[in-house]
Amino acid sequence: MQNSNVTIAELGEHVGRSVTVRGWVAHLRSSGKVAFIVMRDGSGTMQAVIVKSAVDEQSWSTFGSLTIESSIAVTGEIRADARAPGGFELSGSRVELLGSSPLDYPIQPKEHGIDFLLDHRHLWLRTPRQVAIARIRHELSQAIRDFFYARGFTLVDTPILTAAIGERSGLFSTDYFDEGTAYLAQTGQLYGEAAAAALGKIYTLGPTFRAEKSKTRRHLTEFWMCEPEMAFFDSAANMRLQEEFVSYLVQRVLERRRGELAELERDTSRLDDVRPPFPRISYSDAVTRLREKGSSIEWGSDLGAEDETLLAADYDRPVFVHDYPKQAKAFYMKENPADPRTVLCDDLLAPEGYGEIIGGSQREDDHDRLVHRIHEEGLPIEAYGWYLDLRKYGTFVHSGFGLGLERTVAWICGLQHIREAIAFPRMMHRLRP
Ligand code: 4AD
Ligand code: MG
Repeated sequence: MQNSNVTIAELGEHVGRSVTVRGWVAHLRSSGKVAFIVMRDGSGTMQAVIVKSAVDEQSWSTFGSLTIESSIAVTGEIRADARAPGGFELSGSRVELLGSSPLDYPIQPKEHGIDFLLDHRHLWLRTPRQVAIARIRHELSQAIRDFFYARGFTLVDTPILTAAIGERSGLFSTDYFDEGTAYLAQTGQLYGEAAAAALGKIYTLGPTFRAEKSKTRRHLTEFWMCEPEMAFFDSAANMRLQEEFVSYLVQRVLERRRGELAELERDTSRLDDVRPPFPRISYSDAVTRLREKGSSIEWGSDLGAEDETLLAADYDRPVFVHDYPKQAKAFYMKENPADPRTVLCDDLLAPEGYGEIIGGSQREDDHDRLVHRIHEEGLPIEAYGWYLDLRKYGTFVHSGFGLGLERTVAWICGLQHIREAIAFPRMMHRLRP
């Protein structure tokens, strides 16, 4: 009986046997007597060799009609061959066309403009570079889960439709029956804080939304965020967890995704040193340093993308900038007792110009101070009743952070732009496909 469900990745288990492999045509070549089909099935790439005199007429004529991206089933014996891509070759005895692909396949082996590629994202995803990025993203998603599972964190799924407001940037809204306006979550954090009082250490991993009119290589309108929240962690403990977490993610990709990093031509020497401890610099010292380097930043404003790049250039691994001015950050951050102009928070800046990959902070746990901050920011106090309850019933020191998945993928993969870090990017001017 021949095995009818073999993927290219599994060929090693079938050497010497006849199997059927299904996939898509990547490349075709023929001498007239011997034909070669390079095919991919998502698990890998394989070459099938078809000898005219050894196959039935139907199979040979099917080969003649094949085009790039046709889907096919090829049956034949598997041979180990060190020279073949993937290390195995299939000696075809039968070729079957499953789905033809007209010659106008839009993605050709030539330079395409980025808008063209994004318009054809559903097909662009099939190319080796995009497959490598998807696999590294997948590795990171799994690594996030493994890291927190091993440390006793509980995954909590927080709502996307919300009435509360988390961050300062733009909100997407929609009508919500008789309840008025619902907002797409910018963060799961506020719910994560409630869950931390129930479970101790939690994390969220899900999509978040920002109606930001930013057309930069670091911004999406829909992106995935991992947001841990820990009871009884202060800001220093929060930063220690972040450096262990980010180092784990990078080392995990280096260990398990060498092939994908090679496909992307990533210079991995820039990732080898990503191990704790990460350098720390206070916001105030960072401003002094940046001004010496020629930046026009004034104390009080957030770091711009250029400032982040300039600062990160001084280090071989990510750098923490901590204790930003209150006015530059969200209402929920805890006032710094040592300098009440600032809050106990950190941004983690990735090297090589990738900018902020994490924003984290210790949360304001004093009820009255939090009320004051909500008023100061002009936020609707009635939306925060439940959030204030966390400070009323057994308030607790707690901290957390948010890691942007696409920015992390972009950095580790060495991408020019965040749009390639997610299968179907959402940006200001892109809602399709
Ligand atoms: O710094 P942010 O806005 O922090 C929060 O949302 C907090 N509630 C996190 C927390 O403490 N639980 O966003 C966190 C991270 C950023 O560092 C960045 O990596 C990513 O989310 N991010 C974006 N990624 C892509 N496109 C955007 N528009 C992003 N905005 C933020
Ligand atoms: Mg931030």
